[in-house]
Amino acid sequence: MDHNKFLEYVQAENKVEPKDMMPEDYRKLLVRQISQHAHSEVVGMLPEANWITRAPSLRRKMALLAKIQDEAGHGLYLYAATETLNDGTVNADRDSAYSDMLAGKAKYSSIFNYPTLSWADIGAIGWLVDGAAIMNQVMLMGNSYGPYARAMVRICKEESFHQRQGYEILMTLCRGTKQQKEMAQQALNRFWWPALMMFGPNDDASPNSQKSMNYRVKRESNDSLRQRFVDVTVPQAEFLGLKIPDENLKWNEERGHYDFGDLPWDEFMEGLKGNGPANKKRLQTKINAQKENAWVKEAAVAYAEKFKNVTT
Ligand code: 3HC
Repeated sequence: MDHNKFLEYVQAENKVEPKDMMPEDYRKLLVRQISQHAHSEVVGMLPEANWITRAPSLRRKMALLAKIQDEAGHGLYLYAATETLNDGTVNADRDSAYSDMLAGKAKYSSIFNYPTLSWADIGAIGWLVDGAAIMNQVMLMGNSYGPYARAMVRICKEESFHQRQGYEILMTLCRGTKQQKEMAQQALNRFWWPALMMFGPNDDASPNSQKSMNYRVKRESNDSLRQRFVDVTVPQAEFLGLKIPDENLKWNEERGHYDFGDLPWDEFMEGLKGNGPANKKRLQTKINAQKENAWVKEAAVAYAEKFKNVTT
């Protein structure tokens, strides 16, 4: 594998497919990122599931169920994309990746370590979390690994529905009673900074970015996407009549962007170490689910074994 030839190939906007030759560190970078992306999708189902039985109407419950079902599908897509990298030199099968996450050896997005304390949080998650995810995932549609880029197309379409239903929840609350509008403001206060942290550390503190950019996996830097998200989201908050919880937020005419305050990086690092508000609860829920539902997997494997030679 001529490494420079590979770099030229991806930097000329060509796609890499599963059976192509690829540098070991390219393969490992993708297994790390795509499997953690998948973990984020499936753990991300938990904070929202907390409100299925308490949704304020049948319509809201149906939309929330549809969203959570989509997230499970995104996880499936992305575990399947991870497995295309399994060439025997890396652990890219679903079980190993998932076990690493349960053991705290692999990450999922820090945003899911925050509790959902009110129905307005479900709106804030759709609007801000899925909004930030779309920003990142539209960028990933242009990444050099074929299966990952293609998975993003459908995921981004579904995320748009997620983002809109969340924004509509908040719009309804902001046009409701004073208490409902206050609930929406509290949700924005809780989720604003964690949503900005979703884009990762500042560029000068991002150990993976340079390699990821060279390999055309990451197409825009963490800070550039974060800035774009802020620029797009502030007017949306203003339309709702909500205040962004950052006294340093100010439009900078010269830059043509919003200036904003420093993120709470200590909180971010604590979350990465497993000390976020809900880390332990999220992992324990997933560990319990794997144990309680092991019979489903055993039954599916037994069924597949029994009928593997049946062709019609
Ligand atoms: N939460 C947890 N870990 C994070 C993080 C976050 N918000 N941001 C960065 N990290 C981790 C990285 O994984 C890396 O650790 P690792 O080397 O052990 O994997 C470390 O912090 C340093 O960060 P880097 O910037 O160097 O890492 P990357 O170059 O991988 O960039 C990323 C981080 C931008 C999150 C990139 O991995 C990425 O684009 N991932 C794919 C998108 C994704 O995973 N999104 C998560 C949300 S998905 C979602 O929200 C579901 C939606 O349906 C709601």
